[in-house]
Amino acid sequence: MKKIVIAVDGYSACGKSSTAKEVASRLGYIYIDTGAMYRAVTLFFIQNYINLTNPKNVEKALDQIHISFKCNPATGTNETYLNGLNVEKEIRRMDVSMKVSEVSALAKVRKAMVEQQRKLGKNKAVVMDGRDIGSFVFPDAELKIFMTADFDVRAERRQRELLEKGEMITFDEVKKNLQHRDAIDTTRSESPLKKADDAYVIDTTKLTMEEQIDQIVRLAEKII
Ligand code: C5P
Repeated sequence: MKKIVIAVDGYSACGKSSTAKEVASRLGYIYIDTGAMYRAVTLFFIQNYINLTNPKNVEKALDQIHISFKCNPATGTNETYLNGLNVEKEIRRMDVSMKVSEVSALAKVRKAMVEQQRKLGKNKAVVMDGRDIGSFVFPDAELKIFMTADFDVRAERRQRELLEKGEMITFDEVKKNLQHRDAIDTTRSESPLKKADDAYVIDTTKLTMEEQIDQIVRLAEKII
């Protein structure tokens, strides 16, 4: 069977991560959440008061960051580790979400993360989700998906997800955060969020999770 790279890009809160994770599990592929990598860098920058406007500080900080993923046997899913510590919960906090797009827009940060992502995907059999996977990290990915959904649906889904995790947050706060991230992610100069020309668009507004997963698995099965 042929091993491929599946790139899943799109806006925040379209259901990319949950969909990509399940697609990977059905195909027996590795799942890499690249948003988690940028979030882990952001957490380190917050914890260490790194000044984003000072390129030397940013570079020095990046040298001290080691990000890895380990499977949690209880849930069967990959969790994010920053310098050996499990930070899966911390990286989803609102203070990280508020800063992550500024951090991700920095050229040095992107260069370091893209290098790791290319290493993680070099043996293929991987589903990687993010913003620039099909357009920049793996421009030759055999299958590229671009996910979208109506803005209010995205905000409702994200608020529900955060409330379930015990983070008390209003609908307005979630909407502001998504607007803020969309604006920076789509306009930054370094590999902005955009659909690759050869990506399939999946609008998840009216789809169930099962339908989204099925669509991608079917597309993958035509190739592998
Ligand atoms: O996927 P998630 O919403 O957790 O990503 C958090 C942030 O990380 C995004 O809003 C974006 O700023 C950044 N990101 C990125 N490139 C990627 C993945 C995420 O710039 N490939």
